[in-house]
Amino acid sequence: MDHKVDFQVFPSENMVPAPDRARLLDNLGFGKVFTDHMVAVSWEAGKGWHEAHVRERRPFQLDPASAVLHYAQEIFEGMKAYRTEQGSIVLFRPEENARRFQNSAARLAMPIMPEELFLDAVERLVRIDREWLPAGEGSLYLRPFMFADEAFLGVRPANRYTFCVIASPVGAYFKGGAKPITVWVTDKYSRAAPGGTGAAKCGGNYAASLIAQAEAIEKGCDQVVFLDAAEHRWVEELGGMNIFFVMESGTLVTPPLGTILPGITRASLIALARDAGMNVEEKPYSFEQWRDDAAAGRLKEVFACGTAAVVAPIGHVHHGDNRFSIGSGEVGPVTRQLREALVGIQKGSRPDPHGWLHVI
Ligand code: COI
Repeated sequence: MDHKVDFQVFPSENMVPAPDRARLLDNLGFGKVFTDHMVAVSWEAGKGWHEAHVRERRPFQLDPASAVLHYAQEIFEGMKAYRTEQGSIVLFRPEENARRFQNSAARLAMPIMPEELFLDAVERLVRIDREWLPAGEGSLYLRPFMFADEAFLGVRPANRYTFCVIASPVGAYFKGGAKPITVWVTDKYSRAAPGGTGAAKCGGNYAASLIAQAEAIEKGCDQVVFLDAAEHRWVEELGGMNIFFVMESGTLVTPPLGTILPGITRASLIALARDAGMNVEEKPYSFEQWRDDAAAGRLKEVFACGTAAVVAPIGHVHHGDNRFSIGSGEVGPVTRQLREALVGIQKGSRPDPHGWLHVI
């Protein structure tokens, strides 16, 4: 790797014994089980990136005045390593995560990590913890993140940061697996405003979404859908997923980039849909239109997508006291086709025409 930071590797002396690991891998949900190691790299003003380690996963020691604890200078990524049917280990479009991490860092006034260093860190963790890659359906979810750990209470960009990568073997994000989910469209809360941080993957966006997600759960739904902040009219995204609408004409509609997260799964599905000859339009779509199209039978399928959730069909919609379903409320053929195309590439059971797989 072409960067100037030397990694020191300290293999853990407390690795989870193989039979215990096998038991953990046998019962995976999302984000509950963690691997033996972590990667950490420090950044300091005047020094740049330095002190890179691969070592046992363990708690941080944080000064209580660390800037992140007060002003939330924190960003993260979500990506996965897969074991292909051929037995190799691959990452899916990791360069895109590296670039988005740079964009998030720029928005949060944090240091920019070189793409090569980001990729090196992620690959080192996957290599040392390769035994944690689940066989079959599961994958190894990777969580690179960076936070401000300068002890200082003044409000300005911090002078010290830690970058870290942890890994978590995962199964399905939703308990119901590929069963269609029910969404709650909130009128009360917004996720992002023009000029805000909606396009950055920062912890603060997710913190601000939690109360709306809790409202969704209280209403008996699985996920919240946010509308735009200015007019409360245009569909934006879910708490941690992008959204697609499949029209009767065969056209796919998805909200345009701007205040939403530029999902890598979103971009990949747009490309795969176009490969399959479908028309995809990135354009504003109002909730009113969604409701009318569903009632008139013009809207055939709706699905959410993201690295963690992959492709999740949306079967039912609640808004205030109103409820409606999408088609029969079952998984539609386009949702299934796109999900299979994406997972097929990731798992190596289909060709990879765009060169998205990065073999480790
Ligand atoms: C992902 O899909 O990787 C996400 O980051 C969404 C969520 C789990 C925070």
